[in-house]
Amino acid sequence: MDMGLAYKEAIALNEQDDLFAYRSKFFGGDEKLIYLDGNSLGRLPVESKAIIERSVKIEWGERLIRSWNEDWFTKNIELGDKIARIAGASEGEVVITDSTSVNLYKLAHAALRCKKDRTRIVTDELNFPSDIYIFQGLLKEFGEGYELIVVPSRDGMTIDTSDLKETINDNTALVSLSHVAFKSAFRYNMKEITSLGHEKGAMILWDLSHSIGVVPGELNESNADLAVGCTYKYLNGGPGSPAFLYVRKDLQDKLSSPIWGWFGEKNPFDFELKYRPGEGIKRFLAGTPPILSMKAIEPTLDMLNEIGMDRIRRKSVLQSELLLMLASEFLYPLGFQSGSPIDPEKRGSHVSLRHPEACRICKALIDPEIGDTVVIPDFREPDNIRLGITPLYTTCTELFMAVREIRNIVENRLFLKYSPGKDMVT
Ligand SMILES: Cc1ncc(COP(=O)(O)O)c(C=O)c1O
Repeated sequence: MDMGLAYKEAIALNEQDDLFAYRSKFFGGDEKLIYLDGNSLGRLPVESKAIIERSVKIEWGERLIRSWNEDWFTKNIELGDKIARIAGASEGEVVITDSTSVNLYKLAHAALRCKKDRTRIVTDELNFPSDIYIFQGLLKEFGEGYELIVVPSRDGMTIDTSDLKETINDNTALVSLSHVAFKSAFRYNMKEITSLGHEKGAMILWDLSHSIGVVPGELNESNADLAVGCTYKYLNGGPGSPAFLYVRKDLQDKLSSPIWGWFGEKNPFDFELKYRPGEGIKRFLAGTPPILSMKAIEPTLDMLNEIGMDRIRRKSVLQSELLLMLASEFLYPLGFQSGSPIDPEKRGSHVSLRHPEACRICKALIDPEIGDTVVIPDFREPDNIRLGITPLYTTCTELFMAVREIRNIVENRLFLKYSPGKDMVT
């Protein structure tokens, strides 16, 4: 296939895209900027900016403390219910609070306490490092006899179910995995792995950070126990927007958060000196939520619920298949290979392309002096160019143009002028 034909195909796919109109609900869609990093920090929804401006001007500026009773106090539960629909959970099972790392700590701690005669945590080496640090810290806290088993990947990209199966034993308290791996986009079969853990009596805690908003949720269908996830990637909540946590309904009264803050108390404004855990999911809250940041998440939740996750997934698969097809046609001959599973069933919504010069290629893509457009991907050690697909705003022609830019940079060795060192944030 030649480039001209591939471009025509991409245009035709844009024309058939029934979600195309959603792109105009985000800032930056008309600029000469191909943003393929929505899996790190999503674009700004037009409505989120308006909501923040209104909240600052009226709720904070004019209504002041009265806003807590007018809109703020129950917002984390209300938005939690909207996330629940996206994550395949039920009302009252999800709440917005804290960061993903802190939520992971709270829920993993609660699981270890609940399964107190068991001392093993199982995770895998594709998991996000922060999750693994949390488990290491927990083991230190729980003391001797506790162990963390990090299941290795045979190919650096996927995890073999049989390796997990071998590791989950009768002593396993908790299995905690990323639903979609941050580097390779490898996606676990949530139902299969959850029942694998349950067969051995372990609890399962999923990190949904890289799947929420792009992969239909299956928490209830899988009978998953616990989950956490962030809102600044595909939920477009903005930098540092608060995370969410899920606890299956029947477990809520059996588990206890290790952080007994007043927002998790039965009635914080009783100012009782003896802590009484709140009803249901509320007991997993700790302190005052960041209202402005939390409010910015709502427009994307509404868009996703309006569209439905099956349609989102359909576009995500179509686009990631297109990207891999373009890569195999135009980039594999230049020394690239896929760093993501080829089977879409085993993949989330980003695609990693591996090349020995990945770091310098990323720098050239971002440099406005090179090529016709700025392309923003991200780099992940040691050689991955990660390209995120956000069905709400990514277009098929953008994927084509990104591949064309990468090809131009490698074919003409334009990356040579950049130093090989990484920037502070990649
Ligand atoms: C899969 C995964 N888990 C956890 C985190 C950490 O999230 P936070 O910084 O909100 O604690 C991230 C951050 O990108 C992530 O990608």
